[in-house]
Order: sequence, then C-alpha cells, then structure tokens
Amino acid sequence: MATKLWEKNFQVNAEIERFTVGRDREMDLYLAKYDVLGSMAHITMLQSIGLLERDELLQLLQALRHIYRSCEQGQFVIEEGVEDVHSQVELMLTRKLGDMGKKIHSGRSRNDQVLVDLKLFTRRQLLEITEGVKLLFDELVQKSDLYKDVLMPGYTHLQIAMPSSFGLWFGAYAESLADDMLFLQAAYRLTNRNPLGSAAGYGSSFPLDRTLTTQLLGFDSMDYNVVYAQMGRGKMERNVAFALASVAGTLAKLAFDACLFNSQNFGFVRLPKECTTGSSIMPHKKNPDVFELIRAKSNKLQGLPQQVMLIMNNLPTGYFRDLQVIKEIFLPAFDELKDCLRMTAYIINKMEVNEHILDNPMYDPMFSVEAVNRLAAAGMPFRDAYKQVGLDIEAGTFKADKHIHHTHEGSIGNLCNDRIRALMDSTLAEFHFDRVAAAEQALLNPPRP
Ligand code: ARG
Repeated sequence: MATKLWEKNFQVNAEIERFTVGRDREMDLYLAKYDVLGSMAHITMLQSIGLLERDELLQLLQALRHIYRSCEQGQFVIEEGVEDVHSQVELMLTRKLGDMGKKIHSGRSRNDQVLVDLKLFTRRQLLEITEGVKLLFDELVQKSDLYKDVLMPGYTHLQIAMPSSFGLWFGAYAESLADDMLFLQAAYRLTNRNPLGSAAGYGSSFPLDRTLTTQLLGFDSMDYNVVYAQMGRGKMERNVAFALASVAGTLAKLAFDACLFNSQNFGFVRLPKECTTGSSIMPHKKNPDVFELIRAKSNKLQGLPQQVMLIMNNLPTGYFRDLQVIKEIFLPAFDELKDCLRMTAYIINKMEVNEHILDNPMYDPMFSVEAVNRLAAAGMPFRDAYKQVGLDIEAGTFKADKHIHHTHEGSIGNLCNDRIRALMDSTLAEFHFDRVAAAEQALLNPPRP
C-alpha cells in the first residue's frame, strides 16, 4: 500500500489520498530528470558540510545517475501508491542503498525540492522555446528579404489604405519576435536563480552551503531570502507565462493574417495543397486549418498568465497545496508553444506569395498618398494637393503611379532587416545557455578519481 514520506502511525483515507495526489504522478514526470539533478547537487553539498560520508555520496550519485538515464530513456515511472516524483526517487535510492537513501533529505523539504525542479525544467524549456523562436525568426527574415520588392495593399479599418509589401509583412513578425525574445530573457533570468536551501520556506538549522548548490546547478545566483524563494512559486510561472503569451500573441496575429490573406477574396498568399485540409462535403475545399489551430492554441496560451494568477494571486506567504495545481496548466504549455512555433516556421517556409496583387485596379486608390506627396514635394501646399487628388478619385480620373519611393528606416524601400537581425542576435547572446549546459554536464559526468 501507500509509501508516503510523511506517514507515521496511521494511514490516510484512500479518497483523501486520491484527491490530494491529483495529477501529480503524471505531471511530475515532466520534472523527474530535474529532481534527480537537484538531488545530486543537494547531496554533494551535504557531504561538503559533513552530513554524508564521501563513500555514501559516491554510491548515491551513481544511483542517481542511473535514475537520470532511465528518465532520459522514458523508463522512469512513479509507482502506484507513491505520491510524487520526490517520494519515488527517495524510494528507489532507499531500495537500492538502504539507510543511505534515507539520509538525502536532510536540510531539504519537498517545497524547495519542487521549486528547484520547476526552475531547472523551466530554464531548459525556455532554451527550447528560444530555439523555436529563432527558427521562425530566420524563416520570416528570409522571406522578407526575398519578397522585399513585392507590393501588397496595407489596410486600416480593413479598408485599402497604403502600399505595403511582403518585405514589410514578413519582417514585421520577425521584429515582433525579436521583442518577444526580451520577455523570454527576463523570464529566463528570474528563473535561473536557486531556491534550494529554502527548505519548507524558512531555511534550516544545518549550515547549508547554498553557494555550492547554486554553482553546481549552473544558476546565475540564488533567491537569497528563504521566504522570498518560496514566494517564487507561482510568481515564476506567472512571469514565464507572460513571456510565452507574448510569443503566442505574435503567432496568433500572424495566423489570422495568413488565414485572411489565403482566402480567395484576398488571394495574397497560397498554401501548397499538401499543407491544407479538405471538407467531407465540399469537394473544392483547401482549408488553412494549420493556421486556425495555431491561432486557437496561441490564443489559449495567452490566457495562461491569467489562469496562473487566479490560482496564486490571493495566497499569503508560505507554501500551500494550491500551488500544485499550477503544474497542470504550466508544464504542458511549453510543448504546445514549441509545436506552434515549429508548425508556423514550417508553413511560412512553404507559403507562396502572389506577385501580381496590384494588377487589380481595385487597389489603385492606395497610391493616392504617393500622388499627394509628389505634388507637395513639387511645391503645392499639402492640403491643396490632398484636395486635388481627392477630387480626381471622386471623378474617376485618378491614375495610380505604382512606382513608389519609400526610403526612410523601416519603410518598404529600407526594411532594416540587418538591424532587426542584430537586435535578435544581441538578445540571444545574453542568455549564456552554455554555462547551464556545462554545469549540468559536470554534475552528470564527474571526473574519474
Ligand atoms: N506535489 C507538491 C507540489 O507540487 C509537492 C510539495 C508538497 N509539499 C507539501 N508540503 N505538501 O506542490
């Protein structure tokens, strides 16, 4: 029956157990690898302050490495009757090494354990999200460069407004991602701080060396104040969710544009047929379902910060079981966003653009401002030029001159894609993912004695 870390001389009611464990056995699988890494750092530190023998440490580390590998191979399971990943790992160590396994929890609580697991998991996920964002960014900038001379109508109020271009349209979403990357970086930096050692939220009477675990786990620094470290539960998730929502907002808008522009009534872009889906009744249909699903999933992700907030907002300081429920919405969100990023990049790559949109005279009026500006540049007061062109349009005598000349920064003729690339690159260079990778590798592959 139940193996609970905290069970003493009575057994918990089965219904209470079912309800309180909830979906932890499933959710904690996301955290298993990181729970092992956290334990490796914790026990290395325990040995350094004399709470474990060197030989005990070596045996425990070896067993933990073995568990880590089973996580990587997808073989790690949380057994029926075991509450969570933390209990499962301790149980496995105790089964293998007896009393030694029972020593590892000195100076630690599941509260700081789950905190550190979440931080290690999230920083890895943020790395993968930034890779996905960069992939899509590259695709968009490439398309922007490729189609910089292909004009399309720009709209305000969904009314034909001014000349735009595919260079601008693709490039706008690239720049949006460069900005989203700043949120991801802020999220990453506040994630990459060590909460381990805060124990149940109030520290420990053991002389824990938190600087050591901070270094071992490759954190930039620690959440110093132990009460604050515990307050980070929920706060980290909320702020990371805001960063994910920022990316998702870019994707949702792009997806809506793409659906609209792909409609026959616009005909600005075309998806190759293998990227569309059909209808069971209408034989002619080639629907942009991919973009519709990207839009829906991205809109759903934009609700994540609110969902997290509704769970954690009104809690006072200290740990509460409420926080467990955040895992259910937070942990799966990364895979969903990564999938949307990948699919958007894939389909943008395949998207064909219509190079002859403006052959249709319907779009001629969008060159009106160009005509006004030409007259104004030749000396006519702007208001008079505006009126003259307006009257020509009303009279049906306006002749569109489609040779436009936009030269200022960020305009059709001067996209500044190189500078947008530089913005993205300078943000990416500030993450220092390499430090984290080096620390994790050092924990997993200790030098031979
Ligand atoms: N499953 C718990 C969570 O996610 C782990 C921490 C349990 N701590 C406790 N005091 N009950 O929050």
